[in-house]
Amino acid sequence: MSYLELKDIHKAYYLGKQAFPVLNGINLTFERGEFVAILGESGGGKSTLMNIIGGLDRQFEGQVLLQGTALDHHQEKQMDQYRRETIGYIYQSYNLINHLSVLDNVLISLDMTKLNRAAREQRAKELLAKVGLTDQIKKYPNQLSGGQKQRVAIARALASDPQIIIADEPTGALDSENTADVLKLLDQIAEEGRLVICVTHSEDVANAGTRIVRLADGQITSDDRIKAAYPVDENRQQIPARKLPWYVPMSTAFKHLRYTWTWNLIIIIGTAIGLFAVMLFNGLGNGLKGYINQEINDMVNPRVVTVSRYQKTSPNQRGGGAQANNQQAAAMGVSSTTTSQPTFSSTQLAQLKKVKHVQTVQPIISASNATLSIGSKDYAASTLTTWTASNRKSIIKAGHTAGKNEIVVDKDTVAKKWSSKNWKDLVGKKVTVSFQTTNASGKSVTVKQQLTVAGITESTTGGAVNAVSYATMKAMRSSKDLSTKPTSVAVKVDSRNHNDAV
Ligand SMILES: Nc1ncnc2c1ncn2[C@@H]1O[C@H](COP(=O)(O)OP(=O)(O)OP(=O)(O)O)[C@@H](O)[C@H]1O
Ligand SMILES: [Mg+2]
Repeated sequence: MSYLELKDIHKAYYLGKQAFPVLNGINLTFERGEFVAILGESGGGKSTLMNIIGGLDRQFEGQVLLQGTALDHHQEKQMDQYRRETIGYIYQSYNLINHLSVLDNVLISLDMTKLNRAAREQRAKELLAKVGLTDQIKKYPNQLSGGQKQRVAIARALASDPQIIIADEPTGALDSENTADVLKLLDQIAEEGRLVICVTHSEDVANAGTRIVRLADGQITSDDRIKAAYPVDENRQQIPARKLPWYVPMSTAFKHLRYTWTWNLIIIIGTAIGLFAVMLFNGLGNGLKGYINQEINDMVNPRVVTVSRYQKTSPNQRGGGAQANNQQAAAMGVSSTTTSQPTFSSTQLAQLKKVKHVQTVQPIISASNATLSIGSKDYAASTLTTWTASNRKSIIKAGHTAGKNEIVVDKDTVAKKWSSKNWKDLVGKKVTVSFQTTNASGKSVTVKQQLTVAGITESTTGGAVNAVSYATMKAMRSSKDLSTKPTSVAVKVDSRNHNDAV
């Protein structure tokens, strides 16, 4: 019974449905202590055969027997164990892990043995000494020559103490001196009683082994023993193997992070800046929105809705027509708003009060184009209105709300025009308020009254606020026999959510 046996191996690659046969019935036996060179033309199927022997390829026909037992390429666990315990790989392109030091590259293979930490490190150093790299163990692969890299790969392949070493053109990229070194090492490995299978193009390399197998057109064309195989010590104990523990990939990942530290740091900082910016702008946006809402709510109570009666406009009054009409009315000294705006009756006010969710109902009378005369100067107030709960008290920047025969005037359009610096001094001063309107019989009437400035207001989203109390407005209009019915109403809703419903 041979140590390793290949029985009638067939392999084809498929392109669509078309088959490209590569191996056409390979029968070979191998013993430990042999150093077998597989020679063949490029594309002859050598690597394909090695992948089958190494347990890396499962799409083939035929059998691979290890010590008489056929490997089942469909049994994952069995194949894992075979690859871990029996096979060591050496590639033409080394396949070292660049972010691990030379020592760590060998240790990672030893992580799959049951040796303790100290013993693993000792073995790694011994193996690196064996391949002549004792003084290079702290270097990284990219700091090594090709020959040195291949020697690290050999040390790594031997780490788990495998019985078979598969080397696919291990000297393909090396000069003659390094080739000789590597071949010597492979020979030593066979001498230890392991099976070395080495793929090569070179006759010189092939002659370094104990046997040469030639492959052509997917078949064995010759199989020559050139030296006796090395004797095998059957009593030699193999290092017991284990699965790669869970923490090894983690620590390898961490070493990678450390190896590419600057690069990773830049990524971390960049990501952090990005996240921070998103958070910052999100926060700023929310803050700004909140600030604007608060500013608006500070000036105007969001729970107060101003209600006016529906006013029907005749077609010739719409658009430009209405504007012309207003201008005409103004020219005639007639306040357009007070003349045309329908008023609320006391019954309607009572009805409004009964609407669900309504808390209070405050009547409003407004006058357009009022003039405020202070001393010898006149100031235009586009509207003079009555104070309601829709205005926050916080808009009063000096003084207080208007009581009987008092008025609050706008800061920017009145007080600051009166005195840009000492505008607050306007509080307490006398002001003559006048505006024109029409009485019930359509006659133009001028209302004129001297009031005292009680306070100075800041304009709100609704514009400048010049206001008197409802009682004062009523008294002013009564003195001229004018209607004292409200032209609009401030309705206070019990909760902001009910504004729409009301
Ligand atoms: N994955 C694949 N899919 C399709 N065809 C493949 C595949 N791998 C290899 N082949 C083909 O199989 C044949 C054998 O390839 P293989 O790599 O085994 O050759 P080789 O003897 O190792 O050559 P070389 O000496 O150049 O490494 C080649 O014709 C190749 O094109
Ligand atoms: Mg190949």
